[in-house]
Amino acid sequence: MSKTAIVYASTHHGNTKKVVDAIAKEFEGDLIDATATTEKDLSEYELIGFASGIYAAQFHQQVKNFAQANLPQNKKIFFIMTSAMNKDFSKSMAESIKGKNAVIVGEFTCPGFNTYGLFKLVGGLQKGNPTEEEIKRAVDF
Ligand SMILES: Cc1cc2nc3c(=O)[nH]c(=O)nc-3n(C[C@H](O)[C@H](O)[C@H](O)COP(=O)(O)O)c2cc1C
Repeated sequence: MSKTAIVYASTHHGNTKKVVDAIAKEFEGDLIDATATTEKDLSEYELIGFASGIYAAQFHQQVKNFAQANLPQNKKIFFIMTSAMNKDFSKSMAESIKGKNAVIVGEFTCPGFNTYGLFKLVGGLQKGNPTEEEIKRAVDF
């Protein structure tokens, strides 16, 4: 079986961590917390995922830094994101993977509980998300 790594950052409510933990439980693969690890040789991995909560429409800065510093040439990669708006924010990774000839094989997005700023006053957005169903959807992905 091909070796997979998922590089992630999940600093708000652990929403993204829930998703990547569920995936790692089902499949062989290594999780790398980009907020704890900044350097790693990824050459042995055939497939590399970048997973992040979305902060101000961006992947976490440390996921971006990690990709820029450590993504080898010619890898298959995928993106996983959780956000309040549940949109595809993967373009925010473009600069970090520039010149690495990566082939993007998939993108997964799901809603994530958000209590940032004013949203805190209304009990947060997307409460209860990601749900079991969304986590299952991530594993299927
Ligand atoms: C500082 C901050 C900025 C955020 N900016 C956005 C945003 O621009 N768009 C969006 O859809 N969600 C935004 N969110 C919501 C988060 O993306 C969402 O809660 C996500 O699931 C957090 O993932 P995590 O718990 O894995 O860190 C923001 C949250 C925080 C704390």
